[in-house]
Amino acid sequence: MKIYGHRGYSGRYPENTMLAFEKAVEAGCDGIELDVQLTKDGEVVIVHDETVDRMTDGTGPIREKTLEECKKLNAGMVKGNAFGFQPIPSLDEYCNWVKDFDIITNIEIKSGVYYYEGLEEKTLELVRRYDLEERVIFSSFNHLSVMTLRKLAPEIPCGALTEKLDFGNPGYYCKKYDIQYYHPDCRTLSQSAVDNCRKYEIPLNVWTVNTMDDLERMERWGIDGVITNFPGACRRFLKGGF
Ligand code: G3P
Ligand code: MG
Repeated sequence: MKIYGHRGYSGRYPENTMLAFEKAVEAGCDGIELDVQLTKDGEVVIVHDETVDRMTDGTGPIREKTLEECKKLNAGMVKGNAFGFQPIPSLDEYCNWVKDFDIITNIEIKSGVYYYEGLEEKTLELVRRYDLEERVIFSSFNHLSVMTLRKLAPEIPCGALTEKLDFGNPGYYCKKYDIQYYHPDCRTLSQSAVDNCRKYEIPLNVWTVNTMDDLERMERWGIDGVITNFPGACRRFLKGGF
């Protein structure tokens, strides 16, 4: 079972920062999950919320700030500023760093609340610029973004994200629309949905697996990957360290 650090090692470090990504790699993760959106000047940045209010010392929507303005904000605030100033990373910066590591990056296109013009194209351009095509999985709750990326880059796998929904026939859905992975919510995933994915040979990456009970259940069900805030603890568990 593969371990993906959710927004990096976000259980211990400020989410979606280079520090959280570096710590996830140090903890022995197989992959990193991160979220992307577009700034006012069309740069791809790594942030979860559509506004900077929760994670930084600033306020307002990402789409109304330039990259330079975003760079002045402290994304370390989300962990009580215990790690000092942590800037919002651009996807360019991240790709330039991750290219030297043998890990998978699950890039979640955040287009469910606000549909950014060109976000899929710009994200793909960066993945190609850094030759990361074989180490990336795209995903989105907005399946229009998934379909767009399947069309633009058939060589790069995609995952269909769902939230609080036991999608009745997910394996069939993914197979029918040529989506390579199913990314369901751990809270509502059922054995029958897992069986359906098996039937259609669709691997599952489940989010967010943060308790030992859930991790054990995922292992029992033969899940392919878990997306977790605690990649270090998951790694120790899977090595028999608990
Ligand atoms: O991609 C898995 C997970 O990150 C989806 O939910 O809200 O944490 O981006 P969210
Ligand atoms: Mg995400």
